Amino acid sequence: MCCSLAAASEPGRLDDEKNGLTARGRLEEMNRKALESFACPECRAALRLAHAEPGASSNGRIREGLLECTGCSATFPILRSMPRFVPSEEYAASFGYQWNRFDRLQLDRVMHNDLSRERFYATTGWPARMEGQRILEAGCGMGRFTQIALETGAEVFSFDLSNSIEANFKNNGTAESVHIFQASIYKIPLRPGTFDKIFCMGVLQHCPDVKQAFLSLVPYLRPGGEIVIDVYQRNRFVPALKYWVRPFVTWMGPRKIHALLRVTIPPAFELKKALYQVPVVGKPIGNLIPIGPISHKPKLEYTDEELKEVKMLSALDMLSPVHDHPQNIEDVRAWFAEAGLVDIQMKTGFNGINAKGKQP
Ligand SMILES: C[S@@+](CC[C@H](N)C(=O)[O-])C[C@H]1O[C@@H](n2cnc3c(N)ncnc32)[C@H](O)[C@@H]1O
Ligand SMILES: [Zn+2]
Repeated sequence: MCCSLAAASEPGRLDDEKNGLTARGRLEEMNRKALESFACPECRAALRLAHAEPGASSNGRIREGLLECTGCSATFPILRSMPRFVPSEEYAASFGYQWNRFDRLQLDRVMHNDLSRERFYATTGWPARMEGQRILEAGCGMGRFTQIALETGAEVFSFDLSNSIEANFKNNGTAESVHIFQASIYKIPLRPGTFDKIFCMGVLQHCPDVKQAFLSLVPYLRPGGEIVIDVYQRNRFVPALKYWVRPFVTWMGPRKIHALLRVTIPPAFELKKALYQVPVVGKPIGNLIPIGPISHKPKLEYTDEELKEVKMLSALDMLSPVHDHPQNIEDVRAWFAEAGLVDIQMKTGFNGINAKGKQP
């Protein structure tokens, strides 16, 4: 579709031209096929491309344009090559700030590590090659997992409620097989029953109605398709430290919290590092400073400056989201059953509860 068009690569273009299909014709064909995947989030009718700015395409994508519902006439703008199905970020603005400010820190290919890849495969259990499959990613953030899903060769539809899609587009938007758009999990603008795989990692606890957010995803699976989620696990006895701190700072909003972290985390890091040099008592005293380890060597070779950034991102991620609702594993299992999924598997792992199930 307009928004997700990628320019024909040279070899592809030559083949197409041999087959009598011009590069332009190929783009129009891709445009039409992708547009068919979308549906009006209000009335579910098909969408049409009502307008595309002439000459505004970059790398084969239409940058500015307008989609129109063929049923209720609702319109949805295409801005900076991505269709927008929500008028604002709603409650997710902290993530728009966070992922545009920390847009590359968790990208495996930039950090030269495998953190996102390991978590993706440990959580999904999916194969490394998925050519010909259609994957839906809900709540993409800056696209650390979009990158991994694209590497499988699958066609990836990736959305987020927040402006983090700008960062995802910067990180993954040149791939031919990616479709990035701004939408809410509660009103997904796609045709139901059309995805082989759906994943939603690190997202559900940040939605106001967690169960409903999960249930909203399931209808988009085709028969036999598989959904994988992870969600924070509730600690029944002692809530994590952040739940004690959040009431005092979350109201400040992401910019002010980030400003506060910029003046507290680096000195806390240096102090902890200095304490670690003191024999016997230094380490136990240093461990009272709740910023996590000051080194991940030999597994991860972060510089001190990178590690301070990692800690600021992780503190911002804990303190700024408006919603943070950890769940019980029994409740999550019950949602999967209620959704009619089969082959349900639950475990605890990266990020709390990992769960998957299949559409019969
Ligand atoms: C902690 S971030 C995780 C991002 C990404 N999955 C990752 O793990 O890096 C949570 C994401 O969920 C998104 N989100 C929250 N509510 C949403 C909703 N109703 N629809 C779509 N995305 C939502 C936020 O905007 C944010 O980018
Ligand atoms: Zn409509």
